[in-house]
Amino acid sequence: MLNSIDVENMVRGALKRMTAYTPVDPAEVLSGRAQVPAGQTAKLDGNENPYGCSPRVQKALAKFRDYNRYPDPDQREVRKALAKYTGMKSDSIVAGAGSDDLIDIILRLFIEPGDKVINCPPTFGMYPFCTEIAGGEVVKVPRKADFSLGLPAIKKAVDAETRVIFVASPNNPSGNQASESEIKELLALDLIVVVDEAYVEFSGNSLIQLVPHYANLIVLRTFSKWAGIAGLRAGYGVCPINIVPYLMKIKQPYNINMAAYVAILESLADLGYLQKTVRAMVEERDVLYNGLREFNWLKPFPSVANFILCAVQGRGARDVYLGLQKKGIFIRYFETSELKDYIRISVGRPQDTIRVIAALRDM
Ligand SMILES: Cc1ncc(COP(=O)(O)O)c(C=O)c1O
Repeated sequence: MLNSIDVENMVRGALKRMTAYTPVDPAEVLSGRAQVPAGQTAKLDGNENPYGCSPRVQKALAKFRDYNRYPDPDQREVRKALAKYTGMKSDSIVAGAGSDDLIDIILRLFIEPGDKVINCPPTFGMYPFCTEIAGGEVVKVPRKADFSLGLPAIKKAVDAETRVIFVASPNNPSGNQASESEIKELLALDLIVVVDEAYVEFSGNSLIQLVPHYANLIVLRTFSKWAGIAGLRAGYGVCPINIVPYLMKIKQPYNINMAAYVAILESLADLGYLQKTVRAMVEERDVLYNGLREFNWLKPFPSVANFILCAVQGRGARDVYLGLQKKGIFIRYFETSELKDYIRISVGRPQDTIRVIAALRDM
């Protein structure tokens, strides 16, 4: 060191104190940890599409020649294709590097330091994570025992500093959805209501049609789950039209990279194929749910998404997670007080379900 400036001391205090987000590890890290060869693992921890992306995406990415060029900062073609897919106007759509990117820019748009964001745990960890980075204050209003929203408690928690509420529907990790009437009650509050429909293709029950009718509703979607391109980072938000120019202004100009751009367009041109894989996962969700119900020490919760949350009773949920990991089966365990007695298993292929159930029987 040629000098001794204490740069660590310059890090924003709130960011020093905040808890890090716990992401899922890549398959090769997991297989190394379990000492099970990569081809012989079952990755059921990230709610990904086990069938992969559309073959048209693979082909188009290999054929594409313009990776040396910057992608369109106005996302023209992508927004047009998304408008056709969603039935919404293209000037109400903003695309991002995953819906995570949208969560981040929405909070940067609306949150001044000290403003409040309502989070209803257990839910997706990106909402409190991005709130804290934006300098906002997270107000926790826990869900009820059946994981539905605590509406009276939410209303009570709202005050003059509250700006945004996030509701994942279907919710991760519980797999249940909020009703239209619940969302309408939230829309009547003086807040931005962000309904995160990351798993809507598995539930078939969207509230996106409400967006043109409410000044404060944003619906988020992603290509990570149903379209099998989590690794390319592609998501979007359908927003009130007067908010879109601000989101477009503050997003990173080239937030949709060229590969994601190509993959979004090709996925939307191959809906028949992708819907087949979605149907396979929806059918497999029932097989997995019924399989899990055979264990008297597991209580799976009904899910309309592509994962199932289970309460583990009479033994440690973490031990179950570690026991499966040793066999090369990777599921999700959350180190939080609300979820310490639960595991979440993503819906995989039929062979993955057979493997999980057999491994659970051995425990
Ligand atoms: C509810 C919810 N929203 C958003 C995301 C993130 O999606 P993306 O990959 O598009 O950033 C996830 C991923 O797990 C999720 O569960």
